[in-house]
Amino acid sequence: MNIKDSNILITGGSLGIGKASAKLLMESGANVAITGRDKGRLHAAAKETGAFPIVADVAVVEDIERTYQIFLKEFQTLDCLINNAGIGGRRPLIDELQLQDLDSVYRVNVFGAALMASKAAVLFKKQNHGHIINIGSTSALKSDARSTVYSATKFALRAMTQAWQAELRKYNVRVIQVNPSEVATAFGSTDRIERKPVDNKLSSEEIAYTIKAVLEMDDRGFIPELSVWATNPW
Ligand SMILES: NC(=O)c1ccc[n+]([C@@H]2O[C@H](COP(=O)([O-])OP(=O)(O)OC[C@H]3O[C@@H](n4cnc5c(N)ncnc54)[C@H](OP(=O)(O)O)[C@@H]3O)[C@@H](O)[C@H]2O)c1
Repeated sequence: MNIKDSNILITGGSLGIGKASAKLLMESGANVAITGRDKGRLHAAAKETGAFPIVADVAVVEDIERTYQIFLKEFQTLDCLINNAGIGGRRPLIDELQLQDLDSVYRVNVFGAALMASKAAVLFKKQNHGHIINIGSTSALKSDARSTVYSATKFALRAMTQAWQAELRKYNVRVIQVNPSEVATAFGSTDRIERKPVDNKLSSEEIAYTIKAVLEMDDRGFIPELSVWATNPW
């Protein structure tokens, strides 16, 4: 895809991976909109990156509707949706699990991503091209203790990636899952303050670079899924 002049919608663009991706894609000539729940954080990120802010929660159906209305009014067409918004939630052991633990994280990581993609798919099928990037996790490939909730949502996202690939390839739509291992961001923190860079851990910029690289490939082919590891994170 030619990133220059393309129209890209990134969910969860006020911090971390989403913000770094917005910055890099803007610098590469794309028109980018970012979403997020906190207006102050989102507008600060918009100022920093040059991206267009849409205050919206992917867990709220009306917000998804409104995101597309505002995006299409501003940009007219969509070339790429990046399903990046994601939360970790509580990490209960299985014998401590509550329905609320599953419900809150599934609403963002699974239901939100699916409904955002559904709306993109309507547009992409009509225009016969488009890209969806799902930000998964290495937790989408291998689970661990205390990861009943988060890992299950990322396994679910991976299943949806494969379903959408099967449905949308014939419309020239490329659905790509990027699975980062630990990235030094505000993820999982309650204060929402970005972590300082850690020398041997991944930074949001590596993931932004990965997203740019998979998008830049000629549309004849695409990379269905890839993981990004820190070389020596211990
Ligand atoms: N950091 C890691 O170690 C890591 C590793 C693998 C995968 N990932 C995945 O990468 C993605 C981004 O993570 P990150 O590390 O950049 O997290 P982050 O620093 O916490 O940033 C998350 C972004 O998403 C937004 N967001 C959260 N819930 C949202 C919702 N319901 N609707 C709209 N926006 C929402 C946040 O803004 P507001 O809070 O203001 O809404 C923020 O802009 C997530 O899907 C995560 O699962 C992260």
